[in-house]
Amino acid sequence: MKKILIIGATSAIAEAVARLFAKQGNRLYLLARNKERLTAMATDLTIRGAEAVNYASIDVNNFYDHSLLLNEAIEKLDGIDIVLIAHGTLPSQKICENDFGTTLKEFNTNGLSTLSLLTHLANYMESKNHGTIAVISSVAGDRGRQSNYIYGAAKGMVTIFLQGLRNRLQNSGVQVMTIKPGFVDTPMTVDFKKGLLWASPDQVASDIIKGIDKKCDTLYTPFFWRYIMLIIKAIPENIFKKLSL
Ligand SMILES: NC(=O)c1ccc[n+]([C@@H]2O[C@H](COP(=O)([O-])OP(=O)(O)OC[C@H]3O[C@@H](n4cnc5c(N)ncnc54)[C@H](OP(=O)(O)O)[C@@H]3O)[C@@H](O)[C@H]2O)c1
Repeated sequence: MKKILIIGATSAIAEAVARLFAKQGNRLYLLARNKERLTAMATDLTIRGAEAVNYASIDVNNFYDHSLLLNEAIEKLDGIDIVLIAHGTLPSQKICENDFGTTLKEFNTNGLSTLSLLTHLANYMESKNHGTIAVISSVAGDRGRQSNYIYGAAKGMVTIFLQGLRNRLQNSGVQVMTIKPGFVDTPMTVDFKKGLLWASPDQVASDIIKGIDKKCDTLYTPFFWRYIMLIIKAIPENIFKKLSL
C-alpha cells in the first residue's frame, strides 16, 4: 500500500491515474478545485479498491494556502510515497498576446503554482529521504512556437525547475519525474480536431504508472513524442522561425 497525493486530481489524466492507483489498493489524498467532483471521485475510487480516499479543495493560485493544505494532506496520509501534480489550463494564445494580465494568470496556474507546491513538497520529501515527485509538464515546453508560446513558456519553466530539482535531490533518494504528454483527448482539448497522434487519458495514465515504477527521469507519453520532439528541437532556429507551427 502506497500513500499517494494527487494535486489537480479532477483532471482527466489525473483521474485515470487515480483509478489505477485505487485498483492497487493504495491510500489516496486528492486536492482539486471542484468539491462536488472530488466527493464523487472519492466514492468511485473507494469502490475501485483504494484503501482510503480523503480530499480537500484547492485553488492552486492561492499560493499562501499551499503550506497548510499540504501539511493537512501529509498528516492525513501519514507521509507521502508518491505525489502527482496535474492541474493546468490551456490559454488562448491570442488573448495573452494582447493582455498581459491574462498571461500572468496563466503563468501562475501553469508555472508558478507548481513551483510553489514543489518547494514545500521537495523539502518535506528531502527531509524523509524518500518518495516520488511526478509532475505533468508538456511537450509544448520543449520549444517555443507561435501558436502556443505562453503555455509553452510556463511548461518550459516547470521542466527546467524539475531538472534542477532532480539534480538537487539525486543523493536524497527522492525520484523526480517530468511527464511530457503530447496531444491527449481531455476536456482541455475538447475543441481540437483529433487525429492519429492523439492519445486517451487511460493510455497516458498507464505510461505514468509504468514510468514511476521504472524510476524514469523524463517520460514522453505516448513514447513516440520523444522522437517527434527530438526532430522539432533539432531544426535550426533560422528555419524554425519561418515555420507555421
Ligand atoms: N490534454 C493535453 O493534450 C495535454 C497535453 C500536454 C500536457 N497536458 C497537461 O496535463 C495536465 C492535465 O490536463 P488534462 O488534459 O487532464 O486537462 P483537464 O481535464 O482539463 O484538467 C485540468 C485540471 O486542472 C484544474 N485546474 C485548473 N486551474 C486550476 C486552479 N486554479 N486550481 C486548481 N485546479 C485547477 C482543473 O480543475 P477544474 O475542473 O476545477 O477547472 C482540472 O481538474 C495539465 O497540466 C495539462 O497542462 C495536457
